[in-house]
Amino acid sequence: MLTIQENYSLKEHNSFGLDVKARYFVEYESEDDLVQFLAQTDTTSTRLFHIGSGSDLLFTRDFDGYLLHSAIKGIEVLEDKGDSAVLKVGAAVIWDELIKWTINNGYYGLENMSLIPSEVGAAAVQNIGAYGVEVKDYIQSVECVDLHDGRTARFFNEECKFSYRHSIFKDQWRGRYAITKVVFSLPTRFVPNLQYRGLRELPLEGLTAQAVRNKVISLRQGKLPEPAVLGNAGSFFLNPIVSVDKYEALLQQYPDMPHFPVPSSSDSDDTGQFVKVPAAWLIERAGWKGKNIGRAGVYELQPLVLVNRGGATPDEIVTLAATIIDDVNRKFGITLKPEAIYI
Ligand code: EPU
Repeated sequence: MLTIQENYSLKEHNSFGLDVKARYFVEYESEDDLVQFLAQTDTTSTRLFHIGSGSDLLFTRDFDGYLLHSAIKGIEVLEDKGDSAVLKVGAAVIWDELIKWTINNGYYGLENMSLIPSEVGAAAVQNIGAYGVEVKDYIQSVECVDLHDGRTARFFNEECKFSYRHSIFKDQWRGRYAITKVVFSLPTRFVPNLQYRGLRELPLEGLTAQAVRNKVISLRQGKLPEPAVLGNAGSFFLNPIVSVDKYEALLQQYPDMPHFPVPSSSDSDDTGQFVKVPAAWLIERAGWKGKNIGRAGVYELQPLVLVNRGGATPDEIVTLAATIIDDVNRKFGITLKPEAIYI
């Protein structure tokens, strides 16, 4: 089934809770529904964009076109190979529901990414990650529909060009494909990944995936605002990756500046030459923690998160983000890049 709603409020479809509208909101329950819609609709003169749960988006104005949203659900075990299993999951499955299901059914690996607000399709577009794990580590392939010609396509992990919070679907092919299903390969034996500070204190003896999940949930709840209470899009900016030279020059001035090794997933060719500097630290040091512009604010507990203090307009969020980028650039010579997608 497919539904089209006109002048549709997107308040429930963007976690900033911005009061914007879509000219048409199109929701489909199967790949065939989407293919049929594309065949019957003149999409050359009207804008088309696909969203997931809207938790990493910034609508800068009303959307004057067809805004697509998948309602494809379902978790299917395609193959159980003993030490690993292959799962095919509908793009509209709530990310955290998938994690709960995998742990309950003896499939592991996703637990460090518990509670990330996302749907499965968008998780692949954004290569979501947390606590030392990225979703690309477990994606085997992605099934899509080409929004230009309605053809179905399948892309294997390497073809998706995953990197830190990026994939080919967010960059080069932005807006071109609707992801309908994601195929995961998950181990059936739990091997904890505790490299991230905060998880290291967990006792290894008798540790379960559920215990890691519980810890991740409590860490997240301690520093990330609940979107239903305070609108936000998670980390608004990416953590910048700077050259060692740049880092060392800044260190002269700010000896306490924290830094992290660049994970192998980053886009840089030579991981030895680059350093990741926490954007949260830069924003805090620039004096923005807890500050507001209009009804848009910088979250008190985690300055990487911009929040809607209630009734903020898209312009207020855009202005706050741009002002922070300018200020951090002036003070540190580093240009922050938004993780959130502007529409
Ligand atoms: N920091 C400060 N002040 C603060 C908070 C943090 O200076 O108030 C500095 C500290 O040096 C801290 C560092 O920032 O050690 C890192 O902070 P945190 O561990 O909270 O992680 P993050 O780098 O801010 C990233 C991801 C999060 C993910 C966490 C945990 C990005 C853009 N963000 O945040 O992902 O949950 O690590 O893995 O990579 C998201 O993408 O939406 C998201 C929430």
